Amino acid sequence: HAELRGVVALDGPSGTGKSTVARKLAAALSASYLDTGAMYRAVTLAVLRAGVPVADADAVAEVAAASLPEMGSDPRDPAVSMAGEDVALEIRGPEVTGAVSAVSAVARVRELLVAEQRRIIADALASPGGVVVEGRDIGTVVARDAGLKVYLTASAQARARRRSDQDVAAGRLADLERTHADVQRRDAFDSGRAVSPLRMAEDAVELDTTDLDVAGVLDRLLGLAEARGLFA
Ligand code: DC
Repeated sequence: HAELRGVVALDGPSGTGKSTVARKLAAALSASYLDTGAMYRAVTLAVLRAGVPVADADAVAEVAAASLPEMGSDPRDPAVSMAGEDVALEIRGPEVTGAVSAVSAVARVRELLVAEQRRIIADALASPGGVVVEGRDIGTVVARDAGLKVYLTASAQARARRRSDQDVAAGRLADLERTHADVQRRDAFDSGRAVSPLRMAEDAVELDTTDLDVAGVLDRLLGLAEARGLFA
């Protein structure tokens, strides 16, 4: 199969199927993978463990600076660890999910993580093969010169359903109504924050996944990457 050259930026709110298709795209193109949301989640876990109130921006930034996560780049096994501890599962739990918007709204936290993300991307590009990066501000801030930027959307209902399916698959208690409310609360917060709010880059392609399955989305992404000349 083809191999990716350069950066593909996948942005959009939660529940659009972003992580699933980002990983499949990276795997299909023998590319590296970076989940920037997992980095905000890991820092949030450190903040919660430190017992620091999420409203205390200075204290939150201090914890973040001392606890940058180590990110694996394999899309088939996207490892996340802190100080050698595997936290990939714990960062998906309800405590972290409830606090991550507040932590990711702290300007200093974003500065730290954006710098780290750019370092990881440069590192990935230093060896053959490209990198698929997913998040909220990849096309607008982290990798403004990405060869392809896609902004994934889906109806609020579809997004809540996907989130709760994920919870069930992971063995967590799922409550569709609560998940729906949570998805909307988090999106409103992520879109309304002062520092790099969630929005589509001017040069991004919008892709509505409401009525597409994973294979359908992957197909579109591969087509877009090929059309942009990103296949080596
Ligand atoms: O994609 P996710 O649900 O794992 O992201 C967790 C949170 O992190 C989400 O509420 C918004 C924030 N985030 C961000 O602000 N910027 C990114 N590039 C990625 C995630």
